[in-house]
Parts: sequence; structure tokens; C-alpha cells
Amino acid sequence: MKKSIGLHPLPFPAPVWVVGTYDGEGRPDMMTAAWAGVCCSEPPCVSVSVRPSRHTYDNIILNECFSVNLPTARYVRETDYFGLVSGRDRDKIEKSGLSVKKGRLINAPVIREFPLVMECRLIRQVEIGSHTEFIGEILDIRAEEGMLDSDGAVDSEKAGFFVLFSGYRGIDSLVGDPYSVGKELV
Ligand SMILES: Cc1cc2nc3c(=O)[nH]c(=O)nc-3n(C[C@H](O)[C@H](O)[C@H](O)COP(=O)(O)O)c2cc1C
Repeated sequence: MKKSIGLHPLPFPAPVWVVGTYDGEGRPDMMTAAWAGVCCSEPPCVSVSVRPSRHTYDNIILNECFSVNLPTARYVRETDYFGLVSGRDRDKIEKSGLSVKKGRLINAPVIREFPLVMECRLIRQVEIGSHTEFIGEILDIRAEEGMLDSDGAVDSEKAGFFVLFSGYRGIDSLVGDPYSVGKELV
């Protein structure tokens, strides 16, 4: 029997992304975001939901763009740190020991050490309640060659990404192939 477990968003699981922006003085900032995901195929878009109190919120509105940097388990400590402190108060990049450079197509920083980055142009913003959802059109995705399979797609086993689901967890077991395993019921 199921029981009601209350009204709150359940990360089941949620991605762990790091959103990169510049502030009004050109200082780079990185913010961890879990209320995020893919939201459209054509044009390819992602969304990140950000509270107005975040430095990142002001920065996205200012520059109308943001980067999404995907960490691997090796960078879990730095990723958590980006979610604990505000770029208003500290130079998080310097403290993390990571390095950034400006994106190729947008005025937002990307993290050199993270193996996959997306450059996004803000196309819409939706005020929902506690969070504002920023929808970004993906203009470019760059990934380290070592994490790609022979077809040039991201190899989930080589990638080493992690998610938020009762803690930070790796993703390591395949339970079926999409648009395929259900075919026997069609
Ligand atoms: C795992 C994790 C997930 C988070 N997800 C979000 C999120 O989706 N949206 C948000 O507004 N804040 C989120 N936060 C909190 C921000 O990352 C945090 O407030 C950060 O210090 C904001 O940085 P900034 O002020 O430099 O933008 C998350 C924090 C952690 C640790």
C-alpha cells in the first residue's frame, strides 16, 4: 500500500550540473543546480531553475546566457562547494582550484577540467514560485574525446557522471534499452 509522503519535489534522481555565468564586473561564477534537465529536442534546450537570491540569477538575466558544466565523480567535492557558497561573497573558482575560460559562443565561463560543457543562450524565463526556470537553447556541446564511443556519442560507462538521489550517486547499471525493451508489448 502506498502512503502520501508530503508535498515537496522529490529528486528521483536529479542531475548535478554546474551553471557558469559572469557577473556585472566580469567575474566568473559557478553554481550547482539539481532542479534542471533537458526540456526540448528541436531546438535542443535545457532548463535550470534558480532562486532569485542566487548571484547566478542576476548574472543569467544580465548576460542572457549560461554554461552547463557536467562534473564527474572525481570533482564531487568542488561541485558541492559551488552549491554551498555564493559568488557574491567569495571567488569560488579560485578556492576550488579549477580553472575557467570564456565560452566560444557565449559570454559565460566554462570549466576546463570538467569533461562536458554546453553553451546556452537564454530564450525564455518562467517565474514559477520559489524558483525561476531559465530555458537555454544549446548552441554547442563539447566533450572530451576519451568519454566518447566509436559513434561519437557519450559513453555512459566512460563518462563517470553522478546524480542526486539520497546523496550523490554514480550511474552504473543498464536495465534496458529505450524505445526497444518495451517492443514486446507493442
Ligand atoms: C546539490 C545541490 C543542488 C542545488 N540545486 C539548486 C538549484 O537547482 N537551484 C538553485 O537555485 N539553487 C540550488 N542549489 C543551491 C545553490 O547552488 C547555492 O545557493 C549557491 O551558493 C548559489 O551560488 P551563487 O550565489 O554564486 O549563484 C543547489 C545546491 C546543491 C549543493
